[in-house]
Amino acid sequence: MSSRWSTLLMDSADLTHLPQVPIGQVSTHAESIFGQRLGPMALYRRWETQQWEAEAVPLAPDREDFDALPPLIRTKIRELLNTFVVGEYTGLDLLGPILGGCPDEQSLIYLGTQVADESRHTVLLAKIAVDLLGMDGDLRSMLPLIWAEMTEAHRELSVVEADLVRDLAEKPSDYGRWIRAVTHFHLITEGVLALNAQRNLIKGLRHRQVLPGLQAGFIAMARDESRHVSYGMHALRQGLHEGHHDAVMDVLEHCAPLAVHIEQRGTKETAHARRTARELTKELERRMVQLDLPRTSIDHILTVAARPFTPPGAEPADA
Ligand SMILES: [Fe+2]
Ligand SMILES: [Fe+2]
Repeated sequence: MSSRWSTLLMDSADLTHLPQVPIGQVSTHAESIFGQRLGPMALYRRWETQQWEAEAVPLAPDREDFDALPPLIRTKIRELLNTFVVGEYTGLDLLGPILGGCPDEQSLIYLGTQVADESRHTVLLAKIAVDLLGMDGDLRSMLPLIWAEMTEAHRELSVVEADLVRDLAEKPSDYGRWIRAVTHFHLITEGVLALNAQRNLIKGLRHRQVLPGLQAGFIAMARDESRHVSYGMHALRQGLHEGHHDAVMDVLEHCAPLAVHIEQRGTKETAHARRTARELTKELERRMVQLDLPRTSIDHILTVAARPFTPPGAEPADA
C-alpha cells in the first residue's frame, strides 16, 4: 500500500501504515462513520476487515523517545495512558452483561466483536504500561495503584457505570436497564471521553513527531472505537424510538457533569481542566444531536453540565 492520501486510508491501513494516516483524517474519521448511521451487521463487516494484533504494536523502540520527552509532557502522557489501562480493563469487564441483555440477534453478533476488541485493547494497554511506562506487567497489582491516582469525578463515573451494569446483570431482560447501561458505556465513556482522549493523544504525538508505535496502537483503537460508538448510537436511537427518552436523559443528567469535568481535581479548576471541559461539552453535544434528541433536551443537559462543579468527595484544592 502506498502512503498516498486517500479517504480510505484510515479504514484500511494496517499497523505499519497507521502512523502515516494524515492527522486531518484521524480527527474526522469517527464523525464521518457516525454520519453513515451504520447498523450492527454493517459494523460487524467493518470489524472483519479491521483486524490488528496488540502484541505486534512496536512499542519497545518508543521507549527512548518517551524518556527524552520533557518531564511535564511525560507526566501528562503517563496520566492519560493510566486512565486507559483502567478504562479498557473495566470496559471488558462491564461489556459482558450488556452483551447478555441485548435486544436482538444482530446486536449479539456485533457485541461479540466488541468484546474481542476490548480484550485486545486491554492487552495493548498492559503492554504499553510495561514497555513504555516501565510498570510491572501484572494487571492485578497495577489496576488499584492507577485507580487511586484517578480524579474524583473519574472514579465516581466508573462507580456509576458499574452500578448501572450491575442493575442490568440482575435483570438482563429489562430493556430500560439495558438502555441506561448503553447510555453510560457507549455514549459517555466511549463516545465522549475515550474518543476525545484518543484524538488528543494522537494529535499531540503527531505534532511532536514522537512515539510512532504508540500512535499506531492508538489510531487502531480509535478506529475500533468509531464502530463501538456507532453501535451505541444506533442502539440508543432505537431505544428513544421505543419510548425510553427518560432513561437516556436520567443517565445523561447524572453523568454529563462528571464526564465534562473529568480532569478537575478538588474544587479548583485549572486552565487545562477548563479547556478539556469545553471540548468534552462540544463532543457531548455532537453525540446528542446525532441521537436526534429534541433540542430542548440537549439544551437541558448542556445547562446541567455547565453548572459550577464540585467533584463528589473532593477535598478543596487549596486547603
Ligand atoms: Fe476499548
Ligand atoms: Fe470501546
